[in-house]
Amino acid sequence: MYILLTVLCLSWGLTHGAQWCYTGCEYTPSHWANIEGSFCGGKRQSPVNIVTSNVKKDEHLGNFTFVNFTSREVFESMVNTGDTVKINLKKNMVEFHGGGLNGTYTAIQFHFHWGDTEYHPGSEHLINGKRSQMEMHVVSLKKGYTTEEALADSQGIAVLGFLIEANKNMSKSEPWMNLTSLLTNSKDLVNLTEAISINDLIGTVNLTKFYRYMGSLTTPMCNEAVLWTVFEEAIQVHPELLQLFPTKTDITNVYRPTQDLNGRWVYASPAVQLPPAYEWCYDKLECEYDPEHWYTLPGSSCSGTRQSPLDISSKDAVVNTLLDEFHFQNFDHKNAINYAINTGHTVKYMLKEDMVEVWGGGLGHVYSVLQFHFHWASDAADSLGSEHLYNSKRFPMEMHIVTKRKDLTLDEAVMTGNGLAVLGFFMESPGDTKNSGGEEMPSREETSQSSNTEAWKLLTGYLSDIQKTGTMAKFSAEVSIDDLLGDVDRGMYYRYNGSLTTPSCNEAVVWTVFKYPIKVEKSLMQMFPTKMEYHNVYRPVQDFHSRTIYTSAAAASNLPTFLVLLLLSSSHVLSE
Ligand SMILES: *[C@@H]1O[C@H](CO)[C@@H](O)[C@H](O)[C@H]1NC(C)=O
Ligand SMILES: *[C@@H]1O[C@H](CO)[C@@H](O)[C@H](O)[C@H]1NC(C)=O
Ligand SMILES: *[C@@H]1O[C@H](CO)[C@@H](O)[C@H](O)[C@H]1NC(C)=O
Ligand SMILES: *[C@@H]1O[C@H](CO)[C@@H](O)[C@H](O)[C@H]1NC(C)=O
Ligand SMILES: [Zn+2]
Ligand SMILES: [Zn+2]
Repeated sequence: MYILLTVLCLSWGLTHGAQWCYTGCEYTPSHWANIEGSFCGGKRQSPVNIVTSNVKKDEHLGNFTFVNFTSREVFESMVNTGDTVKINLKKNMVEFHGGGLNGTYTAIQFHFHWGDTEYHPGSEHLINGKRSQMEMHVVSLKKGYTTEEALADSQGIAVLGFLIEANKNMSKSEPWMNLTSLLTNSKDLVNLTEAISINDLIGTVNLTKFYRYMGSLTTPMCNEAVLWTVFEEAIQVHPELLQLFPTKTDITNVYRPTQDLNGRWVYASPAVQLPPAYEWCYDKLECEYDPEHWYTLPGSSCSGTRQSPLDISSKDAVVNTLLDEFHFQNFDHKNAINYAINTGHTVKYMLKEDMVEVWGGGLGHVYSVLQFHFHWASDAADSLGSEHLYNSKRFPMEMHIVTKRKDLTLDEAVMTGNGLAVLGFFMESPGDTKNSGGEEMPSREETSQSSNTEAWKLLTGYLSDIQKTGTMAKFSAEVSIDDLLGDVDRGMYYRYNGSLTTPSCNEAVVWTVFKYPIKVEKSLMQMFPTKMEYHNVYRPVQDFHSRTIYTSAAAASNLPTFLVLLLLSSSHVLSE
């Protein structure tokens, strides 16, 4: 037993002489590369952010075969190492093969990564920029290899990574209660007498859906010897149990920041449903699935009866006094933007989770802002690429602020009629106001809106960093959504039930289209088509079927009064 433990220590803790840490010592993660003999500054490091629009399907990533994952007799002991909690497995008991791995791997231990007592998430791998609450790593050596041999082989180690999500709707499962009841801040070995299996902890995670890439250990010496498997589905555990990791162990924020892929590919097993990012397009010359054919994509709702965008007719909109003022929470927060991502169809700015919210405006729920993105046409001076039209007029660009009902998960939200709310803003250059002449055109001759130019410069400055499809850049400039919106009147808007405007066109969106455009310098708007090298990223307008567009009383108030009364008195059901 003593010898076994020495080997296990070696396998993960080669390093303890080097005094590395996550915080509060000389060798924090950004300095791990300086530890003598470490590989932490290499080009094949882990963890990584898995951007699903940039993942390749690999038909060779077949099903795994797991041996003794259901056995309740294979846990040997648990130890608080000061950097993690590690469960040592009995020797040569647990193994797996398949899953596109070359040969069999023997699991020696599993351990966890987590955040802090403030529910700050602490997984190591991210999926589309999202950090999960925790992550579990099942560390395995190629069968028959010693630790030294495994570390020296580029495929010597296989780690199975399981993301763990806090889910308060889960009951407190017995295996997780048992495991967490043993957590301690003492460094002594804890004998594991509770009958728990690895599968008991994994629960219902679908083990055929996973990502694979070549990486490294995520702690010094960061040996580049690991074939990583990160399962797509997260283990769901009650948040109170997950909180016991930081509180009972006195260890917080034990995860390494994500590392550059440096040209590496992340692959997905056939069962993973990748976003149809490369499969659909806006131009029929570019792919088979242009907007006319989106409805034939698997799982698509694109031929439904409440599709977006629409041509909004101000005179047909019905005034609704329930459409009151919005409340914009943290729209003035200057550090809420997390990443800029080039999806191949748009540029998306992802916000930090649960930070920015919106309610009121007749929405009836609190919505969390997830991201905002843009629609545009070309770099021509007179280019018009908004999705919605206003009285049949198309604007140069359109900005969509995408929000999700706070009480639903994203998966639930996209399946719920009002699960998402999108705030749409037309964009035009300050000089365009005079050209928008028609009788009901927004024509607010306003004071200087140049106040937001600095913010738009900072925002578009990131486009140069993400010119390749699927790339993303960490956003560090101080820009708030308020900065971008400038002084646009947010009391005047149109409301209708619609859909996402890209596949799968889920009919889950409560649309708000603001009457007045945001004013943005033409040269800055042109950065989108110029830097992204794709054009005309807007969907054609869709049929109304029997929908009504409502409008806030404020938006209607500058109509002639007789017209307002007429609107209020007649039934305004728009049909095609
Ligand atoms: C993998 O497992 C899934 C579910 O158990 C099954 O549907 C699929 O056919 C399997 N694939 C192969 C290649 O055996
Ligand atoms: C699985 O575990 C059992 C003990 O629970 C052990 O007897 C058996 O040898 C293990 N199987 C393998 C293939 O290691
Ligand atoms: C598979 O592993 C064996 C050694 O275990 C090695 O000789 C062989 O080259 C490997 N094959 C591939 C395709 O990596
Ligand atoms: C959207 O649909 C819901 C449910 O059918 C309905 O109650 C609501 O009035 C609709 N809203 C608009 C703006 O049409
Ligand atoms: Zn780990
Ligand atoms: Zn959009």
